[in-house]
Amino acid sequence: MSAIKKCLFPAAGYGTRFLPATKAMPKEMLPIVTKPLIQYGVEEAMSAGLTGMAIVTGRGKRAIEDHFDISYELEHQIAGSSKEALLDDTRKIIEECTFTYTRQVEMKGLGHAILVGGELIGNEPFAVILADDYCVNEGGDTVLAQMVKLYEKYQCSIVAIEEVPEDEVYKYGVIEGEEEEPGVYRLSNMVEKPPVEEAPSNLAIIGRYILTPDIHDRIRSTPPGKNGEMQITDALMAQAKEGQVIGYRFKGRRFDCGSVEGFIEATNYTYQQQNS
Ligand code: G1P
Repeated sequence: MSAIKKCLFPAAGYGTRFLPATKAMPKEMLPIVTKPLIQYGVEEAMSAGLTGMAIVTGRGKRAIEDHFDISYELEHQIAGSSKEALLDDTRKIIEECTFTYTRQVEMKGLGHAILVGGELIGNEPFAVILADDYCVNEGGDTVLAQMVKLYEKYQCSIVAIEEVPEDEVYKYGVIEGEEEEPGVYRLSNMVEKPPVEEAPSNLAIIGRYILTPDIHDRIRSTPPGKNGEMQITDALMAQAKEGQVIGYRFKGRRFDCGSVEGFIEATNYTYQQQNS
């Protein structure tokens, strides 16, 4: 049994890039084909053996809570029809997982969202999924399942990393480290959204983390960073100084569903997978 049981989903952001779609609807509920982004995240967490879903929401996000709940009227309506099976996955999630929610009242960065969500986690290692980063690994372990396995060996914080084109490093946390085994780096440096000339590499952090519980205090004691926000990258840097962060080049593919282009790519990819 894994030591990691809970997964935190920061989901308070406005999703302004998807306006007007996200005016009254959480961006996490945008569907890739027919399934909301956040459901893919929850299913990935389950695939890694996690059942405690801790969601950091904000104003206008109630649809997320309703989604992971029973809808008696609707289910009664479609009972016995061909549509019934369309809710099988959601029903399984509701049966097997527990959901807890808290609200991030002010938007002060990803580090802040994780700190706020910490109330739902307690003093144990946990995973973080940014649902915007939609990850697939055809026929193999999901990215989070790969990371949970790695945690059993390394017992420290782990960030998923991926090579990105140099002209895109400014969008990400960027790492530097020693490769200890193929694809596994012991991190010595991390910079949040650097200009290309200050980037230590073109290996970018993507939205999958395993964090040890000392991260909460690290976030509290880390001053605001890039854009005046509390950056998880900076808090992780405090752990990295003690050799306690691994960067993992995951197997699989990631779509940046925080951008319209990435979202469309993910949609086309998934539609083709489902119909091939
Ligand atoms: C966040 C992190 C960044 C990371 C990225 C992955 O940035 O701050 O380090 O590379 O997620 O998606 P955001 O995309 O929320 O601005």
